[in-house]
Amino acid sequence: MTQTKLFSPYTIKNVTLKNRIVMSPMCMYSSYNRDGKVTDWHRVHYPSRAAGQVGLIMLEATAVAPEGRISYQDLGIWSDEHIEGLQEIVRLIHHHEAKAAIQLAHAGRKAELEETIIAPSAIPFPGMKTPKEASKDDIAHIVASFKDGARRAKEAGFDIIEIHGAHGYLISEFLSPLANKRSDEYGGSADNRYRLLREIIEAVKTEWSGPIFVRVSANEYHEEGNSLEQYIQFAAHMKEQGVDLIDCSSGGIVPASIDVYPGYQVNLADRIRNEAGIATGAVGLISSSLQAEEILGNGRADLIFIGRELLRNPYWPLNAAKELGAEIERPQPYHRA
Ligand code: FNR
Repeated sequence: MTQTKLFSPYTIKNVTLKNRIVMSPMCMYSSYNRDGKVTDWHRVHYPSRAAGQVGLIMLEATAVAPEGRISYQDLGIWSDEHIEGLQEIVRLIHHHEAKAAIQLAHAGRKAELEETIIAPSAIPFPGMKTPKEASKDDIAHIVASFKDGARRAKEAGFDIIEIHGAHGYLISEFLSPLANKRSDEYGGSADNRYRLLREIIEAVKTEWSGPIFVRVSANEYHEEGNSLEQYIQFAAHMKEQGVDLIDCSSGGIVPASIDVYPGYQVNLADRIRNEAGIATGAVGLISSSLQAEEILGNGRADLIFIGRELLRNPYWPLNAAKELGAEIERPQPYHRA
C-alpha cells in the first residue's frame, strides 16, 4: 500500500482531519419553509459524503442574518432555533469519523430578497437590486451577527468555521474597490477595506477557539479590482489575526467571463501559501486523485476542496483511495469496497 498525501491526516489546532479531502461549501437552497432550518435534504446530502469518506464536510453558505440570505431557501444560523437541526447534521457527520465545518455568510448586494438589502455602497451588482449603503449601525449589526453565528456553530458542535469572504457577497464587496466606494474608515485604502473582515474575525474569536478558515476570491477578474498581490497581503493580515487557512476561490464580484480548466484556481492557493506563509485550500475543477496528489505533493495547497465532483459521486474518496493504492479506514459495512 502506498503512502499518499491525499490520505494523510492533517491537524489544525485541536482538530485532526483523517484526510485532505474537503467537501466544498455548496448552497442547496433546500430550507423549503423559508425559515433557514435544516430539512431532510440536508440530513441525507451531507452525511452521504461523510459515508463516502470525505475528511471534512463543509456546510453551504449559511446566513448569519435573514437579510443576508441569497434566497429565501438558504440555510440559516441567525437564531437559536437553528441550533438543534444543525446539531443533528453534525452528529450524523461525526458518525462517519468525518469532521464538520460551517460556512458563515452574508450575501450583501447579491441577496435576492424583497426587503432592503445592504452593501458597502449603494451600487447594484449589474442587473440586480440597488442595495442600501450600510450605516455604522448596520456594520456593527453585521459584525455581531457573525459573532452570534460563531456561538451557535459552537453550540451545534462544529469543528471548524469558515468565514465566507468570496464571490462578491458582503465581505468580498467590502474588500473590493469594485463594490466599495465608501469614504469613511471602511473604504478607500486596502487597510480600510479590510476593516470589516478584521472586525468579523476578532468577533468570531471571542466565541470560538477552534480552527478558522476564510474563503476569498483571490482573482477579481477586473483591472481595477484587488490583485493577487493584494490578497497575499490580506492573507498575511489574516495570519496575524490567527486565521488557520485561506480557501482560495475567485470571481463573483463583477460579471466576468472566466477561462476555466482543470485546477484553474490552484495558482492562487499556491502563491498565497508560499508568499504569505499560511495554509491554503485549493478548489475549482479538481476531479482526479492524481491531480489532488500533485497539488499536495508539490506544496501548492494543504487541503483539496471538491465541489461538483462530490455532487456527482459522494463516494469519490473511496475511488480515489483505490486509484492511488492507499489503504484507508472505512466503515465496517463497506470493508470490501
Ligand atoms: C457553489 N459554490 C459555493 N461556494 C461557496 O463559497 N459557498 C457556497 O455556498 C457555494 N455554493 C455553491 C453551490 C453549487 C451548486 C455549486 C456548484 C458551487 C462554489 C463551490 O464551493 C466551488 O468553489 C466551485 O464549485 C468550484 O469547485 P468544483 O465544483 O469545480 O470542484
